[in-house]
Amino acid sequence: MNKAVGAFITFEGGEGSGKTTQIHLLKERLKSAGRDVITTREPGGTPEAEKIRDFLVQREGGNWSPMAEALLLFAGRTMHVDNLIKPAIAAGKIVISDRFADSTRAYQGFGHGLGLEKIDEMNRLCLGDFAPDMTFILDIPAEKGLLRAEKRLREAGSGEDRFERLDLSFHERLRQGYLEIARSNPGRCIVINADDVPESIAAVIGRHTQERIADVR
Ligand SMILES: Nc1ncnc2c1ncn2[C@@H]1O[C@H](COP(=O)(O)OP(=O)(O)O)[C@@H](O)[C@H]1O
Ligand SMILES: [Mg+2]
Repeated sequence: MNKAVGAFITFEGGEGSGKTTQIHLLKERLKSAGRDVITTREPGGTPEAEKIRDFLVQREGGNWSPMAEALLLFAGRTMHVDNLIKPAIAAGKIVISDRFADSTRAYQGFGHGLGLEKIDEMNRLCLGDFAPDMTFILDIPAEKGLLRAEKRLREAGSGEDRFERLDLSFHERLRQGYLEIARSNPGRCIVINADDVPESIAAVIGRHTQERIADVR
């Protein structure tokens, strides 16, 4: 039997676009196909990067400038890639990350106005040419996504609400930023209409994954 080939898949999109929901569904699908799957998230994914996450996402975590925020995010990301993501891919696993470098492009680059050039420079410095094999960008009108995210926050009572509390125009910029990232990276990014029922979205994502990644049936 051939050794399974590892892969790295990332999910991107605003709050409430359905990333966590769809990652769970794709993981189950891939596991049913006999693949070894691990899921992870950013910011975070390793003990050190989870500490950086705490600074960034808690209400009282501090008032970071977009540049400082981006540097902290990439500091966590380098260790996440070296210590967790690359070894898992090398072991033939499919790694699915809830957010990755495109989130820094969209949030700090577009949303907070740092610009793409600086982020791409950090990306080159920290990750070289390492990038996801495929990225699903879950696209939904900002207003609808925020309504979903608010519902989830009410249900879960999570303290991680710093990014969600940003206003609607920010989330619209974010959405346009993601669409721009997808246009610039057509070989890697797939924009998914996330304004649909979860099962239909999962079917589309499953089909794309099957087309791109060997051994997935
Ligand atoms: N396709 C969908 N239609 C309606 N509600 C959804 C859909 N996908 C997810 N939700 C709900 O919306 C909220 C946010 O979804 P979630 O997957 O946590 O989004 P994200 O991880 O992108 O913030 C959750 O309460 C979830 O159950
Ligand atoms: Mg989520």
